[in-house]
Amino acid sequence: MSVEIHNVTKSFKVGTEEVIALDRISLSIKEKEFLCLLGPSGCGKSTLLKLIAGIDQPDDGEILFDGQRVREPSKERGVVFQDYALFPWLTVRKNILFGLELAKVDPHKKKSILDEYLQLFELHEAADLYPNQLSGGMKQRVAIARALCLKPELLLLDEPFAALDPFLRQKLQDELLRIWNVEKITFILVTHDIEEAIYLADRIVVLTPKPGKINEVIPVHLPRPRSRTDSHFIEIRNRIIRLLNPQSTNDSEVTNKITMSAGIP
Ligand SMILES: Nc1ncnc2c1ncn2[C@@H]1O[C@H](COP(=O)(O)OP(=O)(O)O)[C@@H](O)[C@H]1O
Ligand SMILES: [Mg+2]
Repeated sequence: MSVEIHNVTKSFKVGTEEVIALDRISLSIKEKEFLCLLGPSGCGKSTLLKLIAGIDQPDDGEILFDGQRVREPSKERGVVFQDYALFPWLTVRKNILFGLELAKVDPHKKKSILDEYLQLFELHEAADLYPNQLSGGMKQRVAIARALCLKPELLLLDEPFAALDPFLRQKLQDELLRIWNVEKITFILVTHDIEEAIYLADRIVVLTPKPGKINEVIPVHLPRPRSRTDSHFIEIRNRIIRLLNPQSTNDSEVTNKITMSAGIP
């Protein structure tokens, strides 16, 4: 698995105005890496994820997946969106089976893959429930299980935990790391939560908005499980805060500003 992003630019026309969502982004993503794309609302994170997925195309530059130009979505690149995107009329079991049926997986294999993922995500008891009977955390587990059961080489996650309360969010972050360790594939996760990025990532790509550019790529060398109160953790956090708000001297004031602008209470 390799992803090469070369000089990618993407703009949108909004009325008569041209919004440059991404400006000459270049990045190589490694095999089995956990990469986080971090930045405030509107800096182009979702746009970049959609381009990697093949849901949209760059205006300029190119994205190569295993050396081939990305032109359309593919089952090698699974996507999980913030709003779960589950089918409300299907049970958990059928939501997960849906992708396997589309991909025409052998019926004998289907059952064993389904069981594998119900088990991995501890969803056995919820298998016959409908999405409206599930908590937000459970819905997101189903969405991730549905994407993973197609055995992608790369999983793209767009703010998967943003709608969850902080306690549940931390629990699912641990769960996601556990699953990443089992699956041994590349994860690219979009977030506007600085601590989430430091807790999860091997490398953090910090984006700045208008136009969306790479500010810095920060490797996180802390061993896992990581502690949010560890002095190195806090050092990286303060470094990112300063990157995103170079003129500020008061770190906690800035954190509040970033979090508020991102719509988190
Ligand atoms: N389909 C679209 N049409 C018009 N503008 C868009 C569209 N998608 C994104 N944008 C604009 O591009 C910029 C980046 O958006 P987005 O990638 O959604 O940011 P993020 O995910 O970091 O919040 C924003 O200014 C947004 O309004
Ligand atoms: Mg977004």
